[in-house]
Order: sequence, then structure tokens, then C-alpha cells
Amino acid sequence: MALGLALGPALARALGLALLAAGAVAPVKDPLLNVCMDAKHHKSRPGPEGQLYEQCSPWKDNACCTANTSSEAHKDQSYLYNFNWNHCGVMPPKCKRHFIQDTCLYECSPNLGPWIQQADSSWRRERILHVPLCREDCEQWWEDCRDALTCKENWHQGWNWATGRNRCPWGSMCRPFSQVFPRPKDLCEKIWSNSFRYSPEPRGSGRCIQMWFDPARGNPNAAVAKYYAWRKRSSAAEGEEDAAPESARAVRARPPPVLLLLPLAPVLLPGGSQPWGSL
Ligand SMILES: *[C@@H]1O[C@H](CO)[C@@H](O)[C@H](O)[C@H]1NC(C)=O
Repeated sequence: MALGLALGPALARALGLALLAAGAVAPVKDPLLNVCMDAKHHKSRPGPEGQLYEQCSPWKDNACCTANTSSEAHKDQSYLYNFNWNHCGVMPPKCKRHFIQDTCLYECSPNLGPWIQQADSSWRRERILHVPLCREDCEQWWEDCRDALTCKENWHQGWNWATGRNRCPWGSMCRPFSQVFPRPKDLCEKIWSNSFRYSPEPRGSGRCIQMWFDPARGNPNAAVAKYYAWRKRSSAAEGEEDAAPESARAVRARPPPVLLLLPLAPVLLPGGSQPWGSL
């Protein structure tokens, strides 16, 4: 017997509409949500990682990092980036924990999609730019590091790598963080060349990314990514309404060039570890 006869025509129609709606929604995967960037140590797709180490463990239900990466993130000079936190004497633990957390967020978070950009560098194809870091996370980072010492404002570039680990370049002096980075905003934005943006929004607002969170209540950054992905798309759509002629609209509807380039990119990358900072 046909389904329509068994259920009655009205119900069958309603069921048909529901199936159609589900079909229309389900297969569309938002490319900005639940993704891993294409960088040095990231997995290709996020997924559960039961064994994530200490400060990275909040991401264990859904992570872009492996257990190995999470444990390396806690080491002083890990194989991840060969980066030396202690370039101006030993970095105090209360300061270092923020750098470890920052590494965990960078390596493990599947919620940075709205801020992933192409990177012009030999060791990663993508980077993050302007991730809005919650004000308290930035302020606490600055507060706990204000008396630690460093010789550089941008930790991505300009080190002396002659010995295989980063040392202060000639002519630079070790000074307190509070002098190198007068405000929390200076620290969070400048240290990794604008990977972060200091957000005026507070933790829990759903409008900024938290470096620290309690996994018992889920990962708060998933909703934040969703909000910014939606905002990105709706502002792009508004721009089109305003000015773009029909042809320009068609061009913009294509997938972004970064997606088109990805399959070609492996050829461009030399293997081996590169002596640059993390993030
Ligand atoms: C992680 O993997 C690297 C490369 O295979 C290895 O050298 C390192 O010892 C591993 N670290 C841990 C903590 O297992």
C-alpha cells in the first residue's frame, strides 16, 4: 500500500514537507564552523580526543589537536615550534600557564573558523587573524605576566635562531612585559601579530572567544563561532545589496579562493620543522 493512502493525504503532505526541509538543511555544512585550520600540527578534522593533557583537556570532546600535541604544548621547548619561553630568564609559572593555554586554544580549538586566513609562510598554509579574545582572559594574561621579562613585542618574527632556539636579537634588551606591552590590549594583539583582537566583551557574553573555560558546561566558543559566522555572512550579503551589480554578485557566490587552492598547496611546502614561534 502506498504511504499516502496509509497515512491520509494531509499527513503525508506534512511528512513530505518535513522530509524536504530536513533534506534541505542537513547536508549543508558551514565551512566556518567546526573546522581545523591547515597549519603545522592540526588534525584535518575535529573529533574526540580522550587523552588530551592537562590544560588542553577542556577540548577533549572535540579537538583539532592530538594527545601528543596537547602534551608537547606544556613543554618548555617542545618539538612543536622549538620556541623558548625563557629567552629572558625563566618565565614564571603563573605567566607561562597563559602561554600554554594560548597554545592549547590555537592547536585544539575547532571554533576559530570565522578568523582563519591564508598565511604567507613556509610552515603553514593558514593562520588566525583578529580572534576576539574575551577581555578578562587578556587582562589576566597581562596581569600574571606583567613582571616577567621579554625583549620583543612581536614573537612571530625577528629572533636570532642561530642556535636552533629563539634568542633575543642583538641590541634588544630584556624588559618587564609591562613596559614592552603597556596595556593588556598591546600584549594580546601584538605578541602574535594580530592573531588576537582585544574584545571589550566579557566572558560568557557569547561574543568573544574564551581561552579558559570549564568543559563541564560545554565549550562556550562553539556559539561564539556560530554568531560571527552568521554576522560575517549577513554583512557580506548587505554589501551585495548595497552596491554590487548582478555579475559581481555571481563572482562573490563562488567558494573563497582559499578553498580552491588547498588541493594544490602540499607541493609548495617543504617538510621538516621550522624554527618559528607558535600561533
Ligand atoms: C610526540 O611526537 C613526536 C614526533 O613523533 C615525538 O618526538 C615526541 O616524543 C612525542 N611526544 C610525546 C609526549 O609523546
